[in-house]
Amino acid sequence: MTQVIAQDIVIAASILSADFSKLGEEIRAVDEAGCDWIHIDIMDGHFVPNITMGPNVVRAIRPHTKKPFDVHLMIASCDPYLADFAEAGADMVTVHAEAGPHLDRSIQLIRHLGMKAGVALTPSTPESAIEYVLDKLDRVLVMTVNPGFGGQSFIPAQLDKICAIRNMIGDRPIQIEVDGGIHVKTAPLVAEAGANVLVSGSGVFDGGDYAGNIKAIRDAAMVARAAGAVT
Ligand code: DX5
Ligand code: ZN
Repeated sequence: MTQVIAQDIVIAASILSADFSKLGEEIRAVDEAGCDWIHIDIMDGHFVPNITMGPNVVRAIRPHTKKPFDVHLMIASCDPYLADFAEAGADMVTVHAEAGPHLDRSIQLIRHLGMKAGVALTPSTPESAIEYVLDKLDRVLVMTVNPGFGGQSFIPAQLDKICAIRNMIGDRPIQIEVDGGIHVKTAPLVAEAGANVLVSGSGVFDGGDYAGNIKAIRDAAMVARAAGAVT
């Protein structure tokens, strides 16, 4: 029987759903509300059909929290900008396997710059895309929606991919992160499949009760995680 280790659940609040007119205040609010990481979505209008922010905004919001900045790059190519994000205060950077041109080189550069490295897979990309870079990764991000927008519906087919990646990882110290459509109802599904870093934008920000939303997502995931744990 597979052993599922009940790692702590990490809640990464995606500021894509924050009020951009008061970003600093919003970040302080989700920090105080109990999120673990700040998830920052960088979009270029080319790799994904939306444009968000760049390193200057990351630098501007850095003083508002001590919590780790989890920077999700949805840009192609990413290599020319990695040093700028490191200098702006990113703690970890995730690049897309599909963004190219040379995934292994991008990962090496992220690590060389002193940041944790992650690779994201869009819903149509199989887990085999990371087979030969797995040992260089701190985390794998499984997109549970198509990247580009907040508030989309969770794609259930990604649960099998999470399970497959969990098996690929084995006992390596690599986290599985999920992003897209994560809220109280979907958090148990991804946690049971093996994810422990849960990104949530609308699930955290909608309704305004940030602390209540974060706690509800975390509790739902932890219950499922404990129920799925076998020895
Ligand atoms: C989408 C982004 C997500 C987004 C998730 O491309 O990568 O981080 O903020 O939003 P929700 O949680 O609302 O689906
Ligand atoms: Zn994201």
